[in-house]
Amino acid sequence: MRGAVLNSIEDARLVIRDDVAVVGPGADEVLIGIRAAGVCHSDLSARTGGLPLPMPGILGHEASGEVVAVGDGVTDLAPGDHVIASWLPPCGTCAPCRHGQPYLCFTHMVASYASPRFLVGGAPAYGMAGCGAFAEQMVVPRSGAVKIAADVPFEIAALVGCGVMTGVGAVINTARIEPGSTVAVVGCGGVGISAIQGARLAGAAAIVAVDINEAKRELARRFGATHAVHPDGLAALGREITGGDGVDYAFEVVGLPQTIRAAWKAARRGGTVVIVGAGRADQTVEFTPSELLFDGKRLLPSLYGSADVRRDYHRLLDLWRAGRLDLAGMITQRVTLEQVNEALDALGQGDVIRQVIDFG
Ligand code: APR
Ligand code: ZN
Ligand code: ZN
Repeated sequence: MRGAVLNSIEDARLVIRDDVAVVGPGADEVLIGIRAAGVCHSDLSARTGGLPLPMPGILGHEASGEVVAVGDGVTDLAPGDHVIASWLPPCGTCAPCRHGQPYLCFTHMVASYASPRFLVGGAPAYGMAGCGAFAEQMVVPRSGAVKIAADVPFEIAALVGCGVMTGVGAVINTARIEPGSTVAVVGCGGVGISAIQGARLAGAAAIVAVDINEAKRELARRFGATHAVHPDGLAALGREITGGDGVDYAFEVVGLPQTIRAAWKAARRGGTVVIVGAGRADQTVEFTPSELLFDGKRLLPSLYGSADVRRDYHRLLDLWRAGRLDLAGMITQRVTLEQVNEALDALGQGDVIRQVIDFG
């Protein structure tokens, strides 16, 4: 089958090959025929080395498709079922799983980085984050495939698998903002626009879209932003619309030290700063001991929207069906697998929100 393979960080390009094969499905695994895959910034971060990936690697982790085959022990999925893939499938037994935090379960992801799920030209290759959706098929653990209704378009379902879950979940699961809250969202890509939509759903009174790209700031208004500003103007605008205090909730959806600091500064004393962006492990962010205590701000990490995907994918699709979550409007480009490098290059540029690879 065809797949987009990253051989080394130095290459900085994925190579489209037609000699890619899956390993499995083994017991408790599911073989998915990919029908649509979103291009998320984490894929770009993996291509540049900002997020870890064993090589050779198949990127792609925001996907939907059809079950092709199931391994031994899988009794509740069958070939032909439509599914969304989750890149953080819960194992059910680790400490976070036992504490009701399935979005922190790394068991299967770690396993996927130790045992290759693909062969490229007969040699072992690894899937990104337990997935590898930039290929015609991939194998995931049973808990990494969530069945959905067959009438949901594959490209809509794909978005739910990462960006929408991450952004909306940050607002409704992690922060649980109150109606009437004032909100700032720093970074208005697919994940940030989803956070803006989540804030609108949750009844925010003011939603400030913050981005260095003017086109993105304007687009954000279509999805519920009430104000839009360049990062340099955030602190002043935040004070202006809150009578001098700063916003109740600031969401950081880029993954850089300076945007984390910008979100921190935008939040009012006693407000909440939510870290959504997936930053590098070799950068640091500075906080003084004094501000950490005396400003009274809460710093909340939000991995994968603090999701329980078995519950939340359906919640998001129900909101989409009810016309309260605009997912079609987030798909700004459709591309082929052969165009994946250009799609990654285009992230953050122009009016790109989400580009979806259509596998037909
Ligand atoms: N200040 C404000 N906005 C910025 C800055 C900055 N310094 N740098 C980049 N941006 C904006 C870009 O202009 C773009 O609109 O952030 C947005 C990022 O959007 P995408 O590249 O589409 O990324 P997305 O897929 O939304 O992911 C955002 O969430 O899940 C994580 O790994 C992901 O860290 C990434 C983040
Ligand atoms: Zn993603
Ligand atoms: Zn677990």
